[in-house]
Amino acid sequence: MAHVCRFPVPLSVAGRRWPMFLPAAAGSGGGSEKGKLLLQDVAELIGTGACRRVVVMAGAGISTPSGIPDFRSPGSGLYSNLQQYSLPYPEAIFELTFFCHNPKPFFALAKELRPGNCRPNVIHYFIRLLHDKGLLLRLYTQNIDGLERVSAAGIPASKLVEAHGSFASATCTVCQRSWPGEDIWAEVKEGRVPLCPVCTGVVKPDIVFFGEPMPQRFFLHVVDFPMADLLLILGTSLEVEPFASLCEAVRHSVPRLLINREVVGPFAWRPRVQDVVVQGDVVEGVQRLVELLGWTEEMQDLIQREAGKASF
Ligand code: OAD
Ligand code: ZN
Repeated sequence: MAHVCRFPVPLSVAGRRWPMFLPAAAGSGGGSEKGKLLLQDVAELIGTGACRRVVVMAGAGISTPSGIPDFRSPGSGLYSNLQQYSLPYPEAIFELTFFCHNPKPFFALAKELRPGNCRPNVIHYFIRLLHDKGLLLRLYTQNIDGLERVSAAGIPASKLVEAHGSFASATCTVCQRSWPGEDIWAEVKEGRVPLCPVCTGVVKPDIVFFGEPMPQRFFLHVVDFPMADLLLILGTSLEVEPFASLCEAVRHSVPRLLINREVVGPFAWRPRVQDVVVQGDVVEGVQRLVELLGWTEEMQDLIQREAGKASF
């Protein structure tokens, strides 16, 4: 597995097969059919304590209910809305070579994207509840919006792998000095490219660009995934490597639950017997799981208790 963030590989180029559609019942959450696991089976595995080491893989789809656009949804996704930046192609905005040539588009976007006025949603609280119940082995997120660590979502740093980095810190592209993300923010807010006070190099937030190495914590996957006894994959297109391939790193006996608008990645081209797909809105899917678990009231209490606390 390569350990730099890579462009998505077009499915046709990768030699992948196009979707082998799962039985319709697989998305319904109804009772088991022909030995296939369904959502209620997953709830039972959690509820009975058969699964206690849950790994969650998350993408931009868990933040859309908080009002943050994802990347690849046609029309609403970020990559469909970058015309104003005159990029050669949309992904260039997160590409290191382009950034070195022209950092202005990234900082213009960062100004809009930067965490600030968005709040965690029911998905973040569901993951927090998994943690509170001692069931969360680790949350691997591709998101750079910081919502998982907002105090109201409260998923502790030890349980979190921000696989594509965050705005919390920044590094000078020339002298490699590290700066708190806050230090460059005044400049970015004014529409200026932040420069290193020591060497005047451009200071880049520690977001993992295409072509950059993954953060050290990402390598926790080497230990976590073989240990996991349940994998939840929420709101991601599974198009960016090496993150996407993590879902292949759990043991074959381990159920993998995908809740997403589309059937993506290996769920489409190489499903496993233990896979469960809930195709549709991630909030609805998670709420159904919460109901099946009998956690609805607890979730409401948690949200009520924590909702006022969001701060950045
Ligand atoms: P994408 O935009 O590629 O995929 C988001 C997925 O979530 C899509 O399949 C959407 O259909 C789905 N989705 C969105 N809203 C949803 C909802 N309310 N309910 C259900 N599904 C929903 O985002 P990621 O997979 O996170 O890199 O993208 C991976 C990486 O590509 C990002 O981390 C980013 C980008 O380049 C960096 O920021 C470095
Ligand atoms: Zn410097």
